Amino acid sequence: MPAQHPPHRRNAPDDKFGHTPELGNQVWDWAERLAQHSDPGYAERGELTVTYLTEAHRAVAQRLAHWMRADCGFDEVAIDAVGNVVGVYHGTDREAKRLLTGSHYDTVRNGGRYDGRLGILVPMACVREMSRQGRRLPYGLEVVGFAEEEGQRYKAVFLGSGALTGHFDTAWLDQQDADGVTMRDAMRHAGLCVDDIPKLQRDPAKYLGFVEVHIEQGPVLNELDLPLGIVTSINGSVRYLGEVIGMASHAGTTPMDRRRDAAAAVAELVLHVEKRAASVPHLVGTVGMLEVPGGSINVVPGRCRFSLDIRATTNEVRDACAADVRAELARICEWRGLHFRLEETMRAAAAPSDAAWQQRWERAVQSLGLPLHRMPSGAGHDAMKLHEVMPQAMLFMRGGNAGISHNPLESITNDDTDLAVRAFQALLDQLTLEP
Ligand code: GLV
Ligand code: MN
Ligand code: MN
Repeated sequence: MPAQHPPHRRNAPDDKFGHTPELGNQVWDWAERLAQHSDPGYAERGELTVTYLTEAHRAVAQRLAHWMRADCGFDEVAIDAVGNVVGVYHGTDREAKRLLTGSHYDTVRNGGRYDGRLGILVPMACVREMSRQGRRLPYGLEVVGFAEEEGQRYKAVFLGSGALTGHFDTAWLDQQDADGVTMRDAMRHAGLCVDDIPKLQRDPAKYLGFVEVHIEQGPVLNELDLPLGIVTSINGSVRYLGEVIGMASHAGTTPMDRRRDAAAAVAELVLHVEKRAASVPHLVGTVGMLEVPGGSINVVPGRCRFSLDIRATTNEVRDACAADVRAELARICEWRGLHFRLEETMRAAAAPSDAAWQQRWERAVQSLGLPLHRMPSGAGHDAMKLHEVMPQAMLFMRGGNAGISHNPLESITNDDTDLAVRAFQALLDQLTLEP
């Protein structure tokens, strides 16, 4: 079972004002239960890793579906053909348009407990309250636990939300994971019906829009001492996987001027990415994977594999950086007498929030007596995919530990979570009053 990190402690009921944040505690407890499932190799070390369709991943889906059904009172609960957990709470009129919400339940390797999962559990807590009160909204609420957003096991990303927007590329099914297991086989093994994927595409005319609650994953709200923030836009991103090919040779006998060192070339590229991204505000570039396959201490690297992730507030700034980096890679390789391969594996356009939905979040936050803080999202989210087909807006919740994320030290408080649930309830209530 993953280790308990020091920040993972729920405030006691009367820590402060004798108030018990029941809704926040519920979400907290669900998140703790989900964190008991982790992939082999990580679980033993107390690390949380849940990648697409592993046993731990399927267990998380089962738990979510069970809670939606048994604890929350959703009317329909199903695990769909890509592994999304979909719960529907009907409105007074079953045919009424639905509000779509949710986030992902997969994680990065050795990640935190709240990235993604918060956006599934917060609306689940809202449905639980409504069904306990026997309350129905004039519109339906569809909560989706997206099966995959993090792009860890396969090169493709947004497998879950992409299926809903009709962007699941069937060519992905032949991709292999690090152990040579194709996506198609992983899906079959999980009992998913690959042929049904096209049927998952939603008709936007049947939806009011998409909203997503997410932990901020950065330091801003923490520094401002604010529990909630309003997302104005999600930064655009592009990702590549690359390989430089040189010549492996003897480290002791190959003179420095005769080497064709693939790793030294990628090292040059990494420094270029760092400098280029740092030269423009709100542009970021990361080489997060760097590997000399089959390398040895006494061999000049003949091959070097790397990843590249570039993000910016506008697509233009992102693309200009990507073009420069590609040109620099070509220049470095030419100068050093090397070859390279570079494959674009993901491209997501910057996604500005829909004005009306952003305002609904603003009014919801204000109704709790909290100040407004508007901010862009540096991280990518399922909302970027839904943005392609319907209006969307996100609500951020503060992360502790200086907002660190994609790290086991990611943390939240039950008090903040309680506010996030209440903000979601306020958004639902407002929508009820709209003509
Ligand atoms: C998703 O977590 C991302 O990489 O932004
Ligand atoms: Mn993430
Ligand atoms: Mn996320």
